[in-house]
Amino acid sequence: MKLMNTHLHAISVIAEKTIKMDIVIEKKLLETIRPGQFVYIQIGSSSEHMLRRPISIADVDIEKELLTLVYKELGEGTRKLSQLKKGDPLNLLIPCGNGYRIDQLQLSHALLIGGGIGVPPLYYLAKKLVEKGIKVTTIIGFQSKEDVFFEEEFKGLGDCFVTTNDGSYGQQGYVTDSIEKEQPEFDNYFACGPNPMLKAIELKLTDKKGFLSLEERMGCGIGACYACVVPTKDEKGSKKICQDGPVFSAGEVKI
Ligand SMILES: Cc1cc2nc3c(=O)[nH]c(=O)nc-3n(C[C@H](O)[C@H](O)[C@H](O)COP(=O)(O)OP(=O)(O)OC[C@H]3O[C@@H](n4cnc5c(N)ncnc54)[C@H](O)[C@@H]3O)c2cc1C
Ligand code: FES
Repeated sequence: MKLMNTHLHAISVIAEKTIKMDIVIEKKLLETIRPGQFVYIQIGSSSEHMLRRPISIADVDIEKELLTLVYKELGEGTRKLSQLKKGDPLNLLIPCGNGYRIDQLQLSHALLIGGGIGVPPLYYLAKKLVEKGIKVTTIIGFQSKEDVFFEEEFKGLGDCFVTTNDGSYGQQGYVTDSIEKEQPEFDNYFACGPNPMLKAIELKLTDKKGFLSLEERMGCGIGACYACVVPTKDEKGSKKICQDGPVFSAGEVKI
């Protein structure tokens, strides 16, 4: 993990209040990044004393020396980020947390399930899985049609099904409804999204090996403040999302 100064290469709006940022990062550092890891990005100048915000790594382009983040404007921090322009300085703690250890897995077909702001990290994961010859099926869920992003990108890597809560695009309902309808075949699943979604998936796919990425709020981001602690499922211990996670095996922690 490294604290570094860099700058913004490009910024664009890709869906409702959904921003894509490309950030210049040196090749050597990009090569160490695992899908599922995140950056801890400083908001404003350090004199403004705002907390950093955790944002997952959505994509990595080693040749172009670029790192992509995709985030939803929710509050003051993300709104401030969106005011940045090409060339503006950025300060990042990178890479943070434990990502998906796909090198340690034996699988031929992965199911990726993303909800809302949980979709971005699954894109880099999908790319790395396909690179290893693993078949990828993706189910992504959003509130409404205008929130949908990355559908074409995922379709370029395998089957992709979209759900919206209000039925304005794709299948109406939740990602779990789509699992029910499509009955995709897979060995392992990888999910990222709001906790109620992760809970529902864990319950539905009890017979499958899976990995859940928790995007709870954080404080320090480096394991020092205990703001992100979750109990283990057996309630005998606890884990820090920022350090032990954000990716956990299904059944490892109590969501
Ligand atoms: C490991 C990790 C990875 C993340 N990756 C991404 C990502 O790739 N893209 C992305 O858009 N967001 C991601 N998030 C969430 C992101 O960090 C928050 O949305 C952001 O910190 C909000 O900051 P803010 O100052 O704009 O909002 P605040 O002013 O802090 O909050 C505004 C509103 O957003 C809600 N909110 C804040 N944080 C979260 C959260 N984590 N989940 C749900 N609601 C929240 C608050 O309850 C409040 O209602 C990630 C979080 C974690 C922990
Ligand atoms: S955010 Fe401080 S310990 Fe995890």
